[in-house]
Amino acid sequence: MEPPVITIGELKQHEGDEVRLRGWVYNWRKKGKIRFVILRDGFGYLQCVVFRPEVGEEVWETAVALTRESSIEIQGIVVADERAPGGYELKVTGLISIQIAPEFPIGKKDHGVDFLLNHRHLWLRSKRQHAILHIRSELEYAIREYFHANNFTLIDSPILTPAACEGTSTLFETEYFGDTAYLSQSGQLYLEPAAAAFGKVYCFGPTFRAEKSKTRRHLAEFWMVEPEVAWLRFDGLLELIEDFVTSILSRVLDRCAEDLKRLERDISVLEPATQRPYPRLDYGDAIAALNAHGVAAEFGDDFGGDEETVLASLNDRPVMVTRYPAGIKAFYMQPDPDDPDRALAVDVLAPEGYGEIIGGSERIGSLELLERRIAENGLPRQAFDWYLDVRRYGGFPHSGFGMGIERTTAWICGVHHAREAIPYPRTMNRLYP
Ligand code: 4AD
Ligand code: MG
Repeated sequence: MEPPVITIGELKQHEGDEVRLRGWVYNWRKKGKIRFVILRDGFGYLQCVVFRPEVGEEVWETAVALTRESSIEIQGIVVADERAPGGYELKVTGLISIQIAPEFPIGKKDHGVDFLLNHRHLWLRSKRQHAILHIRSELEYAIREYFHANNFTLIDSPILTPAACEGTSTLFETEYFGDTAYLSQSGQLYLEPAAAAFGKVYCFGPTFRAEKSKTRRHLAEFWMVEPEVAWLRFDGLLELIEDFVTSILSRVLDRCAEDLKRLERDISVLEPATQRPYPRLDYGDAIAALNAHGVAAEFGDDFGGDEETVLASLNDRPVMVTRYPAGIKAFYMQPDPDDPDRALAVDVLAPEGYGEIIGGSERIGSLELLERRIAENGLPRQAFDWYLDVRRYGGFPHSGFGMGIERTTAWICGVHHAREAIPYPRTMNRLYP
């Protein structure tokens, strides 16, 4: 009987057994009559020891011909070894090369980031990128778990849309059967009606912004998760955000300890953010705090990355900046009853310069006010008529937010640029690979 094919993640259950594994040559070394082949199979790394006197000439010749990233099937006995990374070694008894790779473009030397991004499809195989994208995957899973555990219904929102949600300056336009369509900037406008049908809803998908900015935080295509909740007011929204972020962060820290270690992420910096409450900082107080720290800012200014970094640095956990001037925020935000020039808006700023990871608000309830805001923002009234129905037929208070997956992943991983937190980044000057 042929030995079973297993993965590196399953070695523990096969100690002492003869098994087969399939994967790629991460690296190899020679030492006299021994070849060490480091196998990589997507689940881990395994040192495989090829000992010439024991394997016979055919296997030895195959081992000698291997190059980095060649694909192989390897057979051997699983041996526990404390010194081995992962705790196991494979005493090789058989080896087949599936394909011998020519010199792999990504070597040990330092490559420029442009080179690496041009080879993103191959760069994914590196230990660091593997750790980042595995954390991203666990983050997305934790998000879905959170919403399903809390009785939210998933409402997939469309990608092709007739109108802007977050300002007309960042729309990607496309021809649509003789008409014009835009790639979605946010699923929010489609969630508000769904909240009236299901109470608590969320969408989770790609969103698009033709951002003409080349910062570490901006992508042209990014993933956003957006909950929307009927009857939820602004204070409840802040609590939902806090509960959501602390829950998903705790899960990811629990499940991704090994990846975070590989990234040399200092967990003690993240741990405060697993605890409620998060500080609330009124926009007016934020301006004062900026001035106190020597940053010129006045009432009515929007915050850029620099301002956000200063504000976030005042705390060891994410800061919720609240009640921005209505003029610098989106058209759909409910005015603050105590100061109608302000919006019931919140931005959550992550520590360490990662900037705004969440933007949210209570939504305008009044039909007349919403119509006025659409006009004031120069938006085409006709494209929003269906959206106004939410206020015509059983209007109700509701609130929601959107969280960017790449910024959040970058923050958790301690990775400088959001482009490393998505498998295939799309930025102003990158559509390849
Ligand atoms: O603050 P934003 O624009 O909010 C909305 O789109 C709302 N409609 C969400 C809602 O209330 N349902 O975007 C939300 C988040 C930001 O906080 C940020 O994390 C991320 O989306 N984001 C970006 N991430 C990467 N690249 C970009 N160009 C981004 N623009 C926004
Ligand atoms: Mg925002």
